[in-house]
Amino acid sequence: MERSLVLIKPDAVEKNLIGKIISFYENEGLKIVELRMQKVSEGFASKHYAEHKGKSFYEELIKFITRSPLCALVVEGEGAIQKVRKINGATNPEKAEEGTIRRLYALDKSKNCVHSSDSTESAIREINLWFPELI
Ligand code: CMP
Repeated sequence: MERSLVLIKPDAVEKNLIGKIISFYENEGLKIVELRMQKVSEGFASKHYAEHKGKSFYEELIKFITRSPLCALVVEGEGAIQKVRKINGATNPEKAEEGTIRRLYALDKSKNCVHSSDSTESAIREINLWFPELI
């Protein structure tokens, strides 16, 4: 069964949206198989977002993701990676489809409530990073 790493980001946790966001995934038949609250260090965040290092928004991204606790989870189900991405909506909430998490709750491209793995390879890398005990 396919797995994806999801982060409910600091902006969403601060707005008490954890329960609502998890319901979106559960309502689509996906299972939450791991879940943990964590305030991440800059070092850990830089590993997670290594592919974005050097981009114009990188510093802002690291500052944001480390500002307060987030909720990391592993979501499992058939086609979980694409299903979660569809539920989340586009990175930019203005371009996200109606009814998606980002369209409903995200403020902008940076404070966009959720992260999820974008491919099988990134799911494996990200799950290994966040939940090494699963290896
Ligand atoms: P995420 O799915 O966590 O993966 C990379 C993140 O970088 C993305 O969501 C956004 O939060 C952020 N991001 C991408 N593009 C921009 C941008 N142009 N400006 C600010 N943040 C961005």
